[in-house]
Amino acid sequence: MRSLFLSTLIFSTALGVVVPRAGKKIDYNGFKLLRVSLSEGAEDVEAQIEELAAHVLNPGKTAHLDVVVSPSDADAVTALAATSTVLNEDVGAALAEEGELAAYEVPSETWFTAYHSYADHLSFLSDLQAGFPGQSELFTTGSSVQGRTLTGIHIWGSGGKGSKPAVLLHGTVHAREWISTMTTEYFAWQLLTKYASDATVKSLVDKFDYYIIPVVNPDGFVYSQTTDRLWRKNRQTVSGNSCVGRDINRNWPFKWEVPGGASTNPCSETYKGQAAGDSPENTGLRTQVDALKASTGIRLYLDVHSYGQYILWPYGYDCNLVVHNDAEHRSLATRAASAIQAVSGTAYTIGPACATLYATTGDSTDYTDGVGNATYSYTYELRDTGRYGFTLPANQIQPTVRETWEGFISMLKDA
Ligand SMILES: *[C@@H]1O[C@H](CO)[C@@H](O)[C@H](O)[C@H]1NC(C)=O
Ligand SMILES: [Zn+2]
Repeated sequence: MRSLFLSTLIFSTALGVVVPRAGKKIDYNGFKLLRVSLSEGAEDVEAQIEELAAHVLNPGKTAHLDVVVSPSDADAVTALAATSTVLNEDVGAALAEEGELAAYEVPSETWFTAYHSYADHLSFLSDLQAGFPGQSELFTTGSSVQGRTLTGIHIWGSGGKGSKPAVLLHGTVHAREWISTMTTEYFAWQLLTKYASDATVKSLVDKFDYYIIPVVNPDGFVYSQTTDRLWRKNRQTVSGNSCVGRDINRNWPFKWEVPGGASTNPCSETYKGQAAGDSPENTGLRTQVDALKASTGIRLYLDVHSYGQYILWPYGYDCNLVVHNDAEHRSLATRAASAIQAVSGTAYTIGPACATLYATTGDSTDYTDGVGNATYSYTYELRDTGRYGFTLPANQIQPTVRETWEGFISMLKDA
């Protein structure tokens, strides 16, 4: 039973998914963030917990689940779990620490002290580009379900546009991972604003062509700002089902059909779609990967996510398969993790994705490796390890982007 308090704000569908009333933003005040562990082989219990939860924050992880639950469902979830810990007593209060979306200002370091609206992210990119017209341009690669173009910035150095192997960066494929938007933008900001004054940055910009798309899931991102802060997927519907959204990072057409690393349930956080590559966002992203493969080749691909503090590389779809250049992937990741730790003490766990975190099928890094022929493919899971999760306070944006930048340039030097 849902409480009267909640029923004034939200109602639940047959599968327990929290849906906002028209025009209302979901109010997470009083919702708890619980970390629950399950007994061995308790898949049915896991399904029951997922039904009760407003959101599963780490879908696919088997050792424990981090779930956001309403006050009225918290006891039921705790009763189903083998063990449970309260990570956060009040998700609504944690959201308040994120701060308000800032008013738009032209790009400066203060951009990285607050979160921003989607429209302002587009303004940031175009204003940044306008400051460096000789070595950058905006590009688009396809569009979203609701018709927003996937917009990125292409940055090049002294060799001229399109002359070097590609470094491709994706942010915010999962709508709620706002720190990934800020981080990919910081990389673009640093590459352009430090080029003239910092010899290391100059050498790295001269070495590669950079293609940076801070928000690859714009519809989901907008929805996470207008309606449900904890939204993950895109906003694609499935005929005959009221649940919305495909997980774009389970939709790539490589090993998509392998069971176990995604969900076939449209209500799940990891819904893989009805067919491989059937989301328009994936079509746009994959078109660019394929084009870069065919032209200069991809040296380094990063898919920037949060949270958990991981650096992961292929494969997601098979926990026993070792990528041909596993040792090189490990070497770059080890050095990047050390570089990050040297800035701030933030500790990262590194390893092949499936064996280190959990199985994922149809994910981006398996595609860029297996189809895109990228030399290096990594997923970054940024701060933190669960206290704030996706809603990292505004005062952690700058520390996070700065430490991650050191990891990134470490990889660029080695790649
Ligand atoms: C893959 O990339 C390597 C360079 O890293 C290149 O030598 C090779 O030809 C590429 N293979 C394909 C099939 O594109
Ligand atoms: Zn993610």
